[in-house]
Amino acid sequence: MSSFIQRCIAPDCQTEYNIDERLYVCSRCGGLLDVVSRDFDVDADSLRELWRERKSSLDVRDRSGVWRFREFLPFAGDVEVVSLGEGNTPLYEAPRSADYCHLSHLRLKHQGCNPTGSFKDTGMTVAVTQARKLGARFVACASTGNTAASLAAYAARAELPCAIIVPDGQVSHAKLAQALDYGAKVLEVAGNFDSCMNVIRELSEGGAVYLVNSINPFRIEGQKTVAFELAEQLEWRVPDHLVLPGGNLGNSSAFGKGFRELLQSGLIDRLPKITVVQAEGAAPFARFYREHDAFVNEEHPQTLASAIKIGAPVSWPKAWRAVHDTGGSVITVTEQEIADAKAVIGRDGVGCEPASATTVAGIRKLVSEGAIKEKETVVAVLTGHLLKDTDYVMKYHSQSLIAPDGEQLASNFGNSPIRVSSVESVAKVINEIGS
Ligand code: F0G
Repeated sequence: MSSFIQRCIAPDCQTEYNIDERLYVCSRCGGLLDVVSRDFDVDADSLRELWRERKSSLDVRDRSGVWRFREFLPFAGDVEVVSLGEGNTPLYEAPRSADYCHLSHLRLKHQGCNPTGSFKDTGMTVAVTQARKLGARFVACASTGNTAASLAAYAARAELPCAIIVPDGQVSHAKLAQALDYGAKVLEVAGNFDSCMNVIRELSEGGAVYLVNSINPFRIEGQKTVAFELAEQLEWRVPDHLVLPGGNLGNSSAFGKGFRELLQSGLIDRLPKITVVQAEGAAPFARFYREHDAFVNEEHPQTLASAIKIGAPVSWPKAWRAVHDTGGSVITVTEQEIADAKAVIGRDGVGCEPASATTVAGIRKLVSEGAIKEKETVVAVLTGHLLKDTDYVMKYHSQSLIAPDGEQLASNFGNSPIRVSSVESVAKVINEIGS
């Protein structure tokens, strides 16, 4: 597994580039780039054994849930990696969420348990390692908050100056606080995520900064390893369905690539159906899936799930490949469905941010439509931690969550705090719960 290159994904282009060329898109046609190995000749059993053994090693790369799978990553043998011990996230059995979806079982892969609280860390460790390898002097990204927090942390570890560009007033305080504490320059742009992305792409074209949004194929390389970790956690038995939220569509692309490589190397024997769930008000990919027409951006994306408030997703052609190749689908859910699903996930003792809850809302919908059967195996990917957006949680539980269209959302699983003034009133509440 040594000969890695970058290759344009456009079927009629496929131009190849050296692994060390500093590119984000194909110089010939502007298509997205994949990092690919020319050689997938591996012995599946010995690799599984090697990966298991590494779990008990103290080597920094072995402790990372990303670099542990380095046979499938470029350059991992010979560089010092920038790692915070990412990956190794739990896979939870979620009986209450399963009931809510009318499934016999449901598992939650909680990528929010990464060092900075979101799945972005699994990609950032590779992108920032590549930045350092290329001798980049400055790293940057546009973000709805989580990429920003993640980059800020990894750049700090690598001692690289870093700037993050975020939509003014639209990023949760928790995510901003992380970026500030890690020392990133935070630049707030009047506009939405898509405006920030335009600014950063223009800057990176001039070579002034190294861009680590998911258009950077090295981000996807890191993120794809979650498919390896998940397959291992399931003893290499692939679930029937994998469901995840879609914003800029890097994560769906990464899961698709990870599972495809596992299949090509004989580590698994089939692919899960990958379904991407978007919020109804920010759903250009779902529209593309429904209408099978040209891809049209959403000019004014709207959702309270601020992480996925994105109208011009950069990675859609790769995500489309993931959905199409696996026989999956792309669906939408409403603000009410997201809010309720989030509270139900909470009742399983698992905390996620609103964007992540689109998964359970989406699975419920797919079961009710017969697209997922009660006994099928299903994994929902939770992408961010509950503490990323506590403002949303408090509003839901105190019946004051207002959707972008001005409508007040119902708190169907609300759990508001109770003001108590005496031992008697505490005792009364406890008795009521107990009875
Ligand atoms: N869930 C969370 C918690 C996210 O932060 C994001 C994206 C997504 C889902 C969607 O993933 O973009 O790969 O389709 N957040 C980006 C950011 C855009 O800037 O943090 P995607």
